[in-house]
Amino acid sequence: MRNRIEWRQGRVVSTDLVAEDVRRIVFAVDGSLPRFDPGSHTNLKVTIAGEPAIRTYTVVPAGPGHLAVAVKLHPQSRGGSRFMWGLATGDAIALTVPENRFELSWRADHYLLLAGGIGITPIYGMAKALAARGASLRVVYGARSRGLMAFAEELQGILGDRLVLRNNAKGDHIDLAAEFSALPANAECYLCGPIGMLEAAKAVWAASGRPVSRLRYEVFGDSGLHLEKPFTVEIANRGLSVAVRPDQTLLDALLGAGVDMIYDCQRGECGLCAVKVLEREAAIDHRDVFLSPEEKAENHRMCACVSRLTGGRAVIDIGYRTSP
Ligand code: FES
Repeated sequence: MRNRIEWRQGRVVSTDLVAEDVRRIVFAVDGSLPRFDPGSHTNLKVTIAGEPAIRTYTVVPAGPGHLAVAVKLHPQSRGGSRFMWGLATGDAIALTVPENRFELSWRADHYLLLAGGIGITPIYGMAKALAARGASLRVVYGARSRGLMAFAEELQGILGDRLVLRNNAKGDHIDLAAEFSALPANAECYLCGPIGMLEAAKAVWAASGRPVSRLRYEVFGDSGLHLEKPFTVEIANRGLSVAVRPDQTLLDALLGAGVDMIYDCQRGECGLCAVKVLEREAAIDHRDVFLSPEEKAENHRMCACVSRLTGGRAVIDIGYRTSP
């Protein structure tokens, strides 16, 4: 289970649309908040289908004593974004003091920040912080249309021609090879976007011969290759069958069925929630960044917090978790 987390009480003080499908929600938080860097996350206690659940969002810049998140309303929402969009001024919610797993090094001579869609949320805070310190940077932001680009206007005002917008609807996409080849030798790249964008960037970065450690990234855990469909898992040697709804993660379904799971990030990054897959009737939509491409191709394991079956039934083994 998670540790090191500190829950606080928050109260919504404002909400506003920062893109056609992205709502910023600002919370006043009880008690003093420690300083936190851009790229940090907060966990929020939400209610989905009448059940308590926890959702994690990147914290975007807000005033002292406040936390803000920017939430995209997903058509295939597992329920978290619908709940968040339903929050109104005055509503109370429990949230955690931010922690950071996507940190700026502050040591590079030049920064390339790449955002795809709602992946702008950590990049927005990073860009503001780097610009405030006079760092050398370039931000490239791609989305399906200009109306879906949150914070683009504000960033344009701060960055000028250091910001490039790529409007996919006009056939304009981020040219990863061109971006990477234009970088000085000791530059760092920070990327947040869908998993397809990340996999492409990792391949191009590796081909460029640049140090792996200088490409830093995170993905949003709901960016799979398939739409969410219901599926069922049977747990080997437990006589337990668990149905997973389209609006629910496998991890949430297992926890809801009383299965004792170990997990942490809930973003497909740490691998703690990975379960063995013994049999399956359908493909696995791997949405994590923990397993290697080879491990994903083997389909012997899947990260329960983000990855899912594309339908049907699978037999999974979690028995090794409880071995002494
Ligand atoms: S909880 Fe970290 S990968 Fe699932």
